[in-house]
Amino acid sequence: MKWAYLYTGGVKMKLTYLGHSAFEILINDSKILIDPFLICYPNYDYSGTTSIFLTHGHGDHLGSAIEISKRTGAKITAIYELANYCSSQKSNAEGIGLGNWLEYSWGKVIFLPAFHSSSLPDGEYMGCPAGILFDIEGKKIFHAGDTCLNSEMKVLKEIFKPDIAILPIGGTFTMDVEQASIAADWIGAKTVIPMHYNTFDAISADVNKFAKLIADQDKHAEIMSVKNSIDI
Ligand code: NI
Ligand code: MN
Repeated sequence: MKWAYLYTGGVKMKLTYLGHSAFEILINDSKILIDPFLICYPNYDYSGTTSIFLTHGHGDHLGSAIEISKRTGAKITAIYELANYCSSQKSNAEGIGLGNWLEYSWGKVIFLPAFHSSSLPDGEYMGCPAGILFDIEGKKIFHAGDTCLNSEMKVLKEIFKPDIAILPIGGTFTMDVEQASIAADWIGAKTVIPMHYNTFDAISADVNKFAKLIADQDKHAEIMSVKNSIDI
């Protein structure tokens, strides 16, 4: 019942954790993937995917996006340079910039700043990294991508008021547990989902400590294991 307060009635959606920073959102007939790097869930069935959103070009986020797009026809939406690369690999991709609402049958999406880098393994520049805010039936889910703590998160709270914040906590390349708990406070979402930790040794994190720091703010940390789904 803890999710009941998030349920706006009418349309129900399901959020599934695919490991690392990868998530699936099911809403009506749409199957939306975010950063589909599937090392934790290699036999994931991506058939029927309708949209793929990428926060940046690093391999642990681009993941299987191009292959999935080619096999399903799903459109990849990403920052301009990254989308151009996906198009050059013969996948279906749309290039966008930060700050513009994109409209879909199921809601709208806006790409927002992340503080990180974005390149291919050979160093080719893939544009700026992003966080992605989904507004689906009025439910606002923010996927932060890879980022450090930054004051844009206060603007996020002021302007967009996310209900759910999905935050990297693994350190080394992103915020660590303490910084991510400050981010949760700044973003203001009542539900916080940790990601981008324990996939590799370099990003090992104490997720229980994170959950306690979130609970201390009277928020709920939803610690999802791979393949785990929640109704929202
Ligand atoms: Ni990265
Ligand atoms: Mn990463």
